[in-house]
Amino acid sequence: MKLIVANHKMNLTLPEVLDYKHKIEEINTSKIKLVICPSYPYLVELNSNNYYLGSQNVGILDNGALTGEISAKQLSFLHVSYVIVGHSERRTILKENNSDIQKKIEHVLKTGMHVILCIGENQEEKDKGKTKKVLKENLEILKNISANQLGKVIIAYEPIWAIGTGVIPTNDEIYEITEYIKNLIYDKYDVDIKVLYGGSVSPDNIVELEKIRNIDGYLIGGSSLNPKKMSDIINKVR
Ligand code: 13P
Repeated sequence: MKLIVANHKMNLTLPEVLDYKHKIEEINTSKIKLVICPSYPYLVELNSNNYYLGSQNVGILDNGALTGEISAKQLSFLHVSYVIVGHSERRTILKENNSDIQKKIEHVLKTGMHVILCIGENQEEKDKGKTKKVLKENLEILKNISANQLGKVIIAYEPIWAIGTGVIPTNDEIYEITEYIKNLIYDKYDVDIKVLYGGSVSPDNIVELEKIRNIDGYLIGGSSLNPKKMSDIINKVR
């Protein structure tokens, strides 16, 4: 069963998100696992039986003095099941580093929620042929995680140059990178990890993306804000 994750980023007002919920609840989600990651203030309102709730981020501390942040434990009490960690926008714009991301992953796993760890190369790294090197370094973040805990970790391969640009890798490229990630994890931990593709996924390219045999789902930004586009994508996913 494919995992479809909607990352709303910093979008939608309260009236818009309530309308969104109403429309998303009408979609038949029986053939997929749908996760909606709204902005923090809407997590309570968006709780639903038709999909899982996800968070776009989590704080680096267990609890205490960290103004403006939310802990993994607090999220788990809001029925959140999935937490996105290490999104490229947080790494590049907010300067989040690997040590921060490691702490976040540990806190999330302690609560029993799933981690969606985002990794991906930028345009310059791609042009220099460094994609696999970058991904391998990104995956070092998992070095302190046990094989058992890895069962709750999902990797989202999001080439930074494909996010919000309408440009996506070829199917062969996505297949090769997904296989590379899965093999790295399998060789090291003996675990079959799930890998999502993210970056400009839309109703226009989903049929083509669905021809890739080894991806386990999608992490969707822009298109996920539109219930009609979400419905189109979900209906085309096998
Ligand atoms: P887009 O689908 O808008 O390219 O965003 C992808 C993304 O960053 C999801 O986390």
